[in-house]
Amino acid sequence: MSTTISLARGAPCPEALDAHLIARCTAAALEADGVRLLSYGTGQGYAPLRERLAAQHGVEPGQVFITNGSLQAFVLLLSTHLSPGDRVAVEEPTYDRALLQLVRHRMDVLPVPVDEDGLDPGALAEACADGRAPRLLYTIPNFQNPSGATLSEERRHAVLELAERHGFLILEDDPYGRLRFSGAHLPGLFELGGPQRVMFTSSFSKTVAPGLRVGYVVAPPEISASLAAAANRTYISPSLLAQGAIEQLVGDGHLDACVRRVTRLMRERRDAMVDGLDQMPEGTRCVPPSGGFFCWLTLPEGMSADALHGPAREAGVVYVKGSDCFLSGGERTLRLAYSGVGPDDVTEGMRRLGSVFRAAAVAATA
Ligand SMILES: Cc1ncc(COP(=O)(O)O)c(C=O)c1O
Repeated sequence: MSTTISLARGAPCPEALDAHLIARCTAAALEADGVRLLSYGTGQGYAPLRERLAAQHGVEPGQVFITNGSLQAFVLLLSTHLSPGDRVAVEEPTYDRALLQLVRHRMDVLPVPVDEDGLDPGALAEACADGRAPRLLYTIPNFQNPSGATLSEERRHAVLELAERHGFLILEDDPYGRLRFSGAHLPGLFELGGPQRVMFTSSFSKTVAPGLRVGYVVAPPEISASLAAAANRTYISPSLLAQGAIEQLVGDGHLDACVRRVTRLMRERRDAMVDGLDQMPEGTRCVPPSGGFFCWLTLPEGMSADALHGPAREAGVVYVKGSDCFLSGGERTLRLAYSGVGPDDVTEGMRRLGSVFRAAAVAATA
């Protein structure tokens, strides 16, 4: 059989990874600041990059904590700032690895439904009114992983109002926000709500290269300091060389070109996937995303994306089961990442998936 096509991995395609640029930036960073980059650092990360990110977000450098990818910041935040049993609200569906960490850290997860305008503030308000206000809301407002949905501007204000009224913190996770295909940039929760109410986390994994493992969080100074202390206890300091390369790349003005390139590559792949939606059984739902890496599908009633995962793999295509992104349920849903393969593979993947799904739809109605 021909090679398996993975529509499962939320990673940038090989064409998005500019090894020559990273080589030049790494060499220049080593020339300029080699001894510091090759030494142990502090748990907080490489100071010049922290200063740059702090200026960009309008905070003090002490509020920026740089990690080996942003998932690590999330895990450290759970273990230092929250305790088992604390209520954490999340979109449902949400990023599967984040959900897994919440469950492993024994948080009381409060799922909030998502539609094409992002999380439903009405549902969150109801939970708060019932005495189930969370301590933290973890949200991915732009081109969400996995649903592809973007939180509308009106809802951003509604969510912030709820946080203010019920006194909870928000963690805004935004690795995809700059990868927009159409429409206007929306103000972030951090920008609108300020650093006392909202913590912000992002990553260079989707815009530059996941292998560099550079992500960060902007948090109130006391939280940032406790994260840095936890990092120092656990791994002494993050990889400074990777952070030096990113600092050089951003300082030399290359980030915008990287973002433009990745956006163009992702738009081509999104278009190929959206064209392939006509292969799906009648009644399949998908709202094409206007940025990011993912399409989210809901199969017609009576079908199970969980049950069809094995047959799809046998037909040479893999996807993420939507149910992995729910606390419970979600069996009719699946996440398709167009990000990691070429447009022709996206087209062929959709053809293979369509034939498996259509055959199952016929069997379901027989
Ligand atoms: C929403 C979201 N947050 C965080 C991450 C983790 O990114 P990193 O590579 O920076 O750890 C991902 C990666 O898929 C993601 O989709």
